[in-house]
Amino acid sequence: MYRTTTCGELRLAHLGQTVTLAGWVQRIRKMGGMTFIDLRDRYGMTQLVFNQEVDADLCERANRLGREYVLQVTGKVEERSSKNSHMPTGDIEIIVSTLTILNEALTPPFTIEDETDGGDDIRMKYRYLDLRRNSVRANLELRHKMTIEVRQYLDAQGFLEVETPVLVNSTPEGARDFVVPSRMNPGQFYALPQSPQTLKQLLMVSGFDRYFQIVKCFRDEDLRADRQPEFTQIDCEMSFVDQEDILNMFEGMSRHLFKKIKGIDLPTLPRMTWHDAMKFYGSDKPDTRFDMKFVELMGILKGHGFSVFDEATYIGGICAKGAATYTRKQLDTLTDFVKRPQIGAKGLVYARVEADGSIKSSVDKFYTQEVLQQMKAAFNAEVGDLILILSGSDVNKTRKQLSELRLEMGSQLGLRDKNKYSCLWIVDFPMYEWSDEENRLMAMHHPFTSPKPEDIHLLDTAPASVRANAYDMVINGVEVGGGSIRIHDAKLQAKVFEILGFTPEEAQNKFGFLMNAFKYGAPPHGGLAYGLDRFVSLFVGLDSIRDCIAFPKNNQGRDVMLNAPGLIDQVQLDELGLKVVDKEK
Ligand code: AMO
Repeated sequence: MYRTTTCGELRLAHLGQTVTLAGWVQRIRKMGGMTFIDLRDRYGMTQLVFNQEVDADLCERANRLGREYVLQVTGKVEERSSKNSHMPTGDIEIIVSTLTILNEALTPPFTIEDETDGGDDIRMKYRYLDLRRNSVRANLELRHKMTIEVRQYLDAQGFLEVETPVLVNSTPEGARDFVVPSRMNPGQFYALPQSPQTLKQLLMVSGFDRYFQIVKCFRDEDLRADRQPEFTQIDCEMSFVDQEDILNMFEGMSRHLFKKIKGIDLPTLPRMTWHDAMKFYGSDKPDTRFDMKFVELMGILKGHGFSVFDEATYIGGICAKGAATYTRKQLDTLTDFVKRPQIGAKGLVYARVEADGSIKSSVDKFYTQEVLQQMKAAFNAEVGDLILILSGSDVNKTRKQLSELRLEMGSQLGLRDKNKYSCLWIVDFPMYEWSDEENRLMAMHHPFTSPKPEDIHLLDTAPASVRANAYDMVINGVEVGGGSIRIHDAKLQAKVFEILGFTPEEAQNKFGFLMNAFKYGAPPHGGLAYGLDRFVSLFVGLDSIRDCIAFPKNNQGRDVMLNAPGLIDQVQLDELGLKVVDKEK
């Protein structure tokens, strides 16, 4: 037996026992004739003691150990004279009688501590060492607990976990696919699933009724803090349900997770229409931990001779409570912030509510105090508040810019506490959005989403105004999940493909399997998928989903530890009938 106990479990109750532990050397301290070693494993850390006077040889061997050596020790549990209240095992220590070196270790390239000295790149290259750190391991432990709770909740609700294939076919719409060449079918490619969307719908046609899968999905898209090329969904689908049934079922799942993992009783989730989310927050994933809603000011500020506003199609602002103390320098920095290319505003107008209630603004010369007071009333602004205003010729773009400014102000004013959670549903998404790139309407969610029955008559005449039975769950400004009621009628599905610009042949070619299946008795169905990585990182309070994934990719989509993607042998290329084109030439 390698060990009788782990490094995290010994307490005063174990005094006098002889125990065997195994683990890694965290640190070594020499004090007089004594050597102290902290031995670490997944469960914690225990102090080992070697005494020169008791066993000089043993102590000498301990002195020659290095960080991260793997040891097995046997010894007696004793009470510490100077206790460490920061360590769960801090009341005891082990007086070692036998020491076995199970393995030596090179000095790690960064310290295995919560606050490590290793930068991102080096930690990713040596991810197996990074994963020894408590903080990263704790994230994976929490992830494990969440998947257990998800399975328990869904199992209790009658959901069946069914695995769907990873080698599927490429489908248009959505992100780019990762593709895999087929040796047995030269010149042909599988695609890795962006989600099991169509397969789970087929399972509904098969009568599975309630399906879920904790499943890897693959999308070749530009990476951000909350996006990885491969990520995990909690993917779910139900038959004989309407939108209300789905929202209730998955609100229940979120409530279960919040209670079991965080000990939080989640209130009934508010619902906000997509239209209101855009109008008041300029985002379909508003961070509602703080208010600071947009106020539209076209009626008040247009037409007073200030050309920037007079020419605008949208003027809107936010009121930052208590921020009138912002200095000129801080306001200049905010102006620079909104002018950054990523945000793209032309400038920022600000107005302070002074101690006497009057308004002092950066555009005072164009506006009378009376007009400025109307603006103050529109914001319900009070003494000490700061009003920030953006304008532009494109309503959506300007709202997006104002949304960035709102989030920045929320952060600056400390209103985005990671330990506070604000969850809501965004509902009534539009069916389609216009793509400038493709010069056509694209499905906002995906092409299998059902229009709202009351809007179906608009499909021919005004498709852009058709609303979908689609919904997202948003927590603290993060889209954690999304789904929809699906089309289960082959004719309506064909119509939606037509609006998306597919010829009947293209639709048949790409989605014939689904449309044909619908001809064999498809039940009404719908579902949703949560992004597990995002959910876990919200619970942990991470800025990026990377640290709740054991082996993530970097921003260039690389695994720097495995050095993937990489080149393959000519033999492999030949077998696959592939030719690598040298881009340099
Ligand atoms: P959607 O594309 O909205 O819906 O994805 C569902 C959820 O998956 C998460 N997510 C991601 N997480 C990390 N990295 C990514 N690159 C990434 N992309 C998406 C998000 C998102 O809310 N088949 C539909 C679901 C359905 O209709 O049932 C789908 O995939 O949290």
